[in-house]
Amino acid sequence: MRRPLIVAAACLLAGAAFALDAGYVWPLPDWMPPPPVPADNPMSVEKVELGRHLFYDARLSRDGTVACASCHAQDLAFTDGRAVAVGINGTLGAKNAPSLANVGYLPVLTWANPHMDSLEFQALIPMFGENPDEMGSVGQENTIFATLATDPYYASAFPAAFPDRPLPDLFTVTRALAAFQRSLISVGSPYDRFKRLGDKHALTDAAKRGEQLFFDHRFECYHCHSGVHFTDTIQTSLMAEGEAGYHNTGLYADYPASAPGLIGITGRPQDAGRFRTPSLRNVAVTAPYMHDGSIPDLRGVIAHYASAGRADHPMKDGMIQGFRASEAEIADLIAFLQSLTDEEFLSDTTLSDPWPEGHPASATRQMP
Ligand code: HEC
Ligand code: HEC
Repeated sequence: MRRPLIVAAACLLAGAAFALDAGYVWPLPDWMPPPPVPADNPMSVEKVELGRHLFYDARLSRDGTVACASCHAQDLAFTDGRAVAVGINGTLGAKNAPSLANVGYLPVLTWANPHMDSLEFQALIPMFGENPDEMGSVGQENTIFATLATDPYYASAFPAAFPDRPLPDLFTVTRALAAFQRSLISVGSPYDRFKRLGDKHALTDAAKRGEQLFFDHRFECYHCHSGVHFTDTIQTSLMAEGEAGYHNTGLYADYPASAPGLIGITGRPQDAGRFRTPSLRNVAVTAPYMHDGSIPDLRGVIAHYASAGRADHPMKDGMIQGFRASEAEIADLIAFLQSLTDEEFLSDTTLSDPWPEGHPASATRQMP
């Protein structure tokens, strides 16, 4: 059950940096504070709904074939099931599409760019970025916004969401997309019911044993996959500052130039191969794994950690020491990871494609 909570009090506590979201009710239980919201883009029901339509609208891409949802599909926790993303002309990117569950709680976005700290700004990258060429819309802005403006839904939805600036443009489109993405909240897994609501029957015995292993010093998983979203990268509206964790888990002896890790932005040698710790919520449905999708399943991920990484790298994190685990323990750990799947989130119709079948907004790209 999603239990709504009015957030005015939480936002007041957080101070003036965050917007007061008049009328918007977060789909959050009382133990989870809302994500921060920038003062210049307060949440509203109308904006979130507009953002949802844009997220599923392939007309944001150059040839009308690719929507945000083409690479961020709800039933896969807003990932795409591919190792690396495939852009508009079938061009292969270098990175795996991350889940967008709880993306509003991430103070830094993408696998390894600590400067990418705004959902509003990030939305420009898939639309207008050229490397990788995801939606290919650079130079097409005016045509795209003009097309959107002719849609009867948008003709009323933009003024409802942005009374002072009622037309589709970079400002309104990116803000609506960001508001919708902040609404992608997933805290309703069996493990949440077990841990937060005291429902002893929510977990299988195997998952309960797996929980012990996950939080055990032998496995060390919880050091990096820490906190409420199982990642050391988090900011809530109650935190003055966000926290960001980047680690080298020993995937490569030499990370390729197409995905070098944090060093690609900072230039510091110690940042080679360091990537942001992904959340493990819904991880059972987000295969393949790692920043480049190079591990096909959870068993493979555990084997990777058990052998202290696939490769030796001088910057490999000290927590990646390797461990011995029996078959039964591996099965238990996987059962625990599976208990982090929030089925309601994966099928919640308020987050799904709002366009009727065959509508010009519909993406034509086939999912794998
Ligand atoms: C062609 C596939 C593709 C499309 C289309 C696409 N994305 Fe992504 N998305 C990715 C990949 C790959 C990444 C990881 C990029 C990186 O880390 O460098 C990503 C990352 C993100 C992130 C950061 C998530 C995180 O965990 O840090 C957000 C937010 C996001 N995309 C939103 C969108 C929105 C909004 C759209 C539509 C305007 C969109 N994406 C379209 C593939 C895609
Ligand atoms: C030193 C910090 C650290 C430790 C310890 C750690 N992880 Fe990770 N984990 C990461 C980082 C960073 C990544 C992403 C690495 C990459 O893509 O290059 C990751 C990726 C993953 C992924 C893939 C998620 C995805 O969406 O692709 C899974 C699953 C995972 N870890 C589970 C575990 C388990 C289980 C353990 C304990 C056996 C563990 N991790 C221990 C930091 C850590």
